[in-house]
Amino acid sequence: MEKTILVTGGAGYIGSHTCVELLESGYQVVVIDNLSNSSAEALERVFTISGKKPIFIEGDVRNRALLDKIFVDFPIDAVIHFAGLKAVGESCQMPLAYYDNNINSTLTLCQAMEQAGVKNLVFSSSATVYGDPETLPLTEDMPLSATNPYGRSKLIIEEMLRDLPEADAITQSATPWAVILLRYFNPVGAHKTGLIGEDPKDIPNNLMPFIAQVAVKRREYLSIYGDDYDTIDGTGVRDYIHVVDLAKGHVCAVENLLGSSPITGVDAINLGSGDGVSVLQMVSTFAEINQIPVPYQIAPRRSGDIAACYANACKAKKLLNWQTQLSVTDMVKDTWHWQSKNPMGYTV
Ligand code: NAD
Ligand code: WQD
Repeated sequence: MEKTILVTGGAGYIGSHTCVELLESGYQVVVIDNLSNSSAEALERVFTISGKKPIFIEGDVRNRALLDKIFVDFPIDAVIHFAGLKAVGESCQMPLAYYDNNINSTLTLCQAMEQAGVKNLVFSSSATVYGDPETLPLTEDMPLSATNPYGRSKLIIEEMLRDLPEADAITQSATPWAVILLRYFNPVGAHKTGLIGEDPKDIPNNLMPFIAQVAVKRREYLSIYGDDYDTIDGTGVRDYIHVVDLAKGHVCAVENLLGSSPITGVDAINLGSGDGVSVLQMVSTFAEINQIPVPYQIAPRRSGDIAACYANACKAKKLLNWQTQLSVTDMVKDTWHWQSKNPMGYTV
C-alpha cells in the first residue's frame, strides 16, 4: 500500500525538491507550511514536475490542534521535519524567534506524533552543529558546538530528540522512536526543469543565490568574504551538495525507517559530497559553465565564518546506500537555469 509522509516546511527550498522525489518514488505527501518563507506556487510546480499533487495544509507546526487533526485525517507513516527559520545573522538579532519557531515546532510535532503513535522522524539538522571543527573531514561522532542561536537551536533539538528513545527504553514502549538527524552541508542548485529552486525573500545570505542574483543583474557584484584563509586560494572552502541529491537522501532515510531493518533510536548522518570547494572556485565554475560574468570584490572576513568545512559521507553510504551523484557543474548549471527562467523567483 502507498505510504504517506508528512512533510513540514514542504513548500520551502529543500522541502519542495523532496516532495518531488517522494511523489516520484510512489509516496503520498501531506505538506504543512505557514508560507513564512515560501510560496504556494512551489507546490503547484511540484505537481507540474511530478504529475502528482501533494496535499497542502497551510498552517503553523506550533499549532497542536492542527497537527492532531492531520494525524487523524491522514494515515501518516513517517514525518520529515524541515519547517524552521534558517538565517544565521538574523538568529543573532532575534534569538527568541529562532528558539520559539525551531524548538517549539519540533516539540509540538513530537508531542502530536507520540499521541498518534507515529514515531518515525527525519529531522533537518545542519553541519553547523560541528561549530568550528578542529579536524576535517567531519564524521558524525565529532564534538558538537554552536556559534550562533540558529546553530544552538539545531543542537538543542538534536539533544532533545536523543531523550525520546531513552524514555522508550524505560517505558518499554511498543512503538519506539526511530529518528534520523540529517546533517546537511551546503545545499545549492535547483531542479533540472528550472521550475523550482531557491527563492530568498531578502538579500541572500548564502553564496550560491548571491552569485545567481549577480549573474541575473539583480545585484551589482559579489563580496567575497576574505581571501586570507589557510585554504587552496585563501577563500572559504565548503562542501556543496546539489539539492536534488539532498532530496534523494531524504527518500533513502524514509526508506530506512519504513524498511525491514531500520535504525534504532536516534542516528545522525552527514549529507555531503565529501569534497571541499572554495568561493573562488565556485565563482569561476559558475562563470565558465554558464558563460556569464560574475563581478566580485574581495571584502573583509564575515564574522563567525570558518575557513573550511567538509563531510566524511561514508555513514550515509553505509546506512542509507546514498551518495551524491551530481557535480559542481550540475550545481551551477541548474542554479542558472532556475535563476534565468525565474529572475524574480516565484514572484511574477
Ligand atoms: P526554507 O526557508 O526554504 O524552508 C523552510 C520552510 O518552513 C518554509 O517554507 C517556511 O515557510 C516553513 N516554515 C518555517 N517555520 C514554520 C512553522 N513554524 N510552521 C510551518 N511552516 C514553517 O529553508 P530550507 O533551506 O528549505 O531549509 C529547510 C530545513 O533545512 C530548515 O530546517 C533548515 O534549518 C535546514 N537546513 C538548511 C540548510 C540550507 O542551507 N538551506 C542547511 C542545513 C540545514
Ligand atoms: C559559503 C562560503 C562565505 C556569501 C550557512 C550556514 C549553515 C548552513 C548553510 C543552515 C563562505 C562565502 C558567502 C557571500 C561569500 N545553513 N560567501 N560571499 O556560511 O558555509 O553556511 O549556510 O544550516 O548553518 O552557516 O554558507 O553560503 O553563507 O557561505 O564570500 O555573499 O561563501 O564566507 O566561505 P555557510 P554560505
